[in-house]
Amino acid sequence: MKKNLLLEINALRSLIREHDHNYFVLNNPTISDYEYDQLFKKLVELEKENPELITPDSPTQRVGSDLVKDFKSVTHKTPMLSLSNTYSEEELIDFDRRVREGLPSDEKAEYLCELKIDGVSVSIHYEKGKFSVAATRGDGTSGEDVTSNVKTIRSIPLILEQKTGVKANLDEIEVRGEIYMESEAFRKWNEERELSGEKTFANPRNTSAGTIKLQDPQLVAKRPLQIFTYYLFSYTSELSSQFENLNLLKKLGFRVNENFCLCKSIDQVIEFCREWENRRSELPYEIDGVVIKVNSLKQQKILGSIAKSPRWAVAFKFKAKQATTKLHKITWQVGRTGALTPVAELEPVLLAGSTISRATLHNYDEILRKDIRENDIVVIEKGGDVIPKVVSVELSSRKSNSSKVALPSVCPECGSKLYRPQEEVAIYCENNECPAQVKASITHFASRTAMDIEGMGDSLVNLFVDLGYLHTYADIYTLHEKREELIKIERLGKKSISNLLEAIEKSKNKPFDKVLFALGIRYVGAGAAKKLADHFLSIDVLANAAEDAIEEIHEIGPSISKSVNRFFSEKHNIKLIERLRTAGLTLSSEPKKLKSDSLSGKSFVLTGTLSSMSREAAKEIIQEHGGKVTGTVSKKTDYVVTGEAPGSKFADAKKLGITILTEEQFLELIK
Ligand code: IVH
Repeated sequence: MKKNLLLEINALRSLIREHDHNYFVLNNPTISDYEYDQLFKKLVELEKENPELITPDSPTQRVGSDLVKDFKSVTHKTPMLSLSNTYSEEELIDFDRRVREGLPSDEKAEYLCELKIDGVSVSIHYEKGKFSVAATRGDGTSGEDVTSNVKTIRSIPLILEQKTGVKANLDEIEVRGEIYMESEAFRKWNEERELSGEKTFANPRNTSAGTIKLQDPQLVAKRPLQIFTYYLFSYTSELSSQFENLNLLKKLGFRVNENFCLCKSIDQVIEFCREWENRRSELPYEIDGVVIKVNSLKQQKILGSIAKSPRWAVAFKFKAKQATTKLHKITWQVGRTGALTPVAELEPVLLAGSTISRATLHNYDEILRKDIRENDIVVIEKGGDVIPKVVSVELSSRKSNSSKVALPSVCPECGSKLYRPQEEVAIYCENNECPAQVKASITHFASRTAMDIEGMGDSLVNLFVDLGYLHTYADIYTLHEKREELIKIERLGKKSISNLLEAIEKSKNKPFDKVLFALGIRYVGAGAAKKLADHFLSIDVLANAAEDAIEEIHEIGPSISKSVNRFFSEKHNIKLIERLRTAGLTLSSEPKKLKSDSLSGKSFVLTGTLSSMSREAAKEIIQEHGGKVTGTVSKKTDYVVTGEAPGSKFADAKKLGITILTEEQFLELIK
């Protein structure tokens, strides 16, 4: 009885899969929506009656009901590299020359050109033909586990079938691609949100990036995400070319952008780039360039990678989209470090899918250099997700009412004196308590990538600062004492204050590196904060560290070490940290559990590109075995591990007579 049932269920699933493929991948449905819904309903019913027969790859299991509180970290089996950019034909010709020089002289290079989709990249793993894990790119070495969100995208197969003509072994494969939203679907969805009073989004790319990290897969499923896949990797069988891989991806049921082209020469590549730069507006989605890949995978291997990008591929970036509009006024915005940034207040204009009414002018020197004046007609442009900027002035339409702006003599927000540090173009408000600075630093502290206090965005921060509830970010943790007063503030109320206080409480569990980033120390971005936290393990040790001890960390330079020292030398910062400590924030982290102490006391320096892992991964392995990794070679260094194309550290090591290890020798050491 059960056996027949299983057969029926499986037949239904396979039928639904086929219709999903027709609809979402091929854009060619062969049954009506009604008929499809009937099939789906039937399957839901059967599974409801027989829950023991539900499998994770059933079409009914795409949308989970569990919230994902914290995305787990996933280490990429093969690093997710990024591409170096080219902007001109000359640069493409240079790329072709470098490729040919890197290959044996009797080999010809062919290129596979693809459109560069403006979305977010994702990696999807399949084990024994079944969807297993999907991850974001992250820093290229590890990303976040977004499996339950990616599973909701119905053009992504949950099961791969070994169809005829598919030579690749499907035991363990990885597929990569770009998740994006079509422009029209985005516009409609955003419009609906506006109508229902919800927050709207700036562009399809940011929306896709935000959506893939939502905690609730049910919400993700309602948003019109799509995917184009462009990468296939088999860990159990050898593949031969990118051209073949794209065709394999199609055969396996993935969505592949059809506008790809196998080019026999760089001239054909240039032609393809020119063609799509002109035709990009015909497409229902945004592209920002063309990706050019050496077609042969064998050749790709020979060429290898440098730092974070492969030598076998390059992006040709289109010129940023531009628009002209009137610049009404130049205002000055005070950031969290006190720096004043001139902002162009514009006549609203549509550019690359969003309405622009403000653009950055960077700094005063730039205004002078470009001779930008109020009432001018200006050209603005936007590239990728950057803030729009003013490129130039249309001098031919300059009117007599155009007026130059002067550098403000005092802070536009608090009237304090301004100063310009030596060797800097920016001017600063010298008042640490300037409300604009305070607001910006608190907003940064609470932001998603720092303490992630939901509900504490800039409008609430502005309100609380104006009403005198917040003077510094440490005050956030005493807000609960004012609960009764806060509830009475118009437009807030009990529910939202409760949620806010709860979110504040929750933020106390944020790890040390997030707290360190939240403090807003100049030049200490999220990545540097993580490195500092991992290295020093506690704020007290960091606060007392000498500049050169800080610079020992790989990729941490003097501007960061100086800034860290300056920060901890100011009394009021120490007071703030003490208040955060009293509130119960995490100001230290546990040292990582060691796998062994075989490298204990040994100091390593890594140089060049390793072929089997990224440098970050190698560093982690060394630390797991008790060793440490520093950025510069000195007499204290025990080993220098050299990958391909090592830098000057290799010569330094030779000079100092330090043991140099090849990647193979290094791998032996940690076995
Ligand atoms: S190939 C090393 N192909 O562009 C290979 N990337 O910096 C890198 N992208 O992170 C990826 N369309 O997010 C490739 N057809 C395409 C692409 C593409 C968009 C994105 C991807 C990647 C970035 C390159």
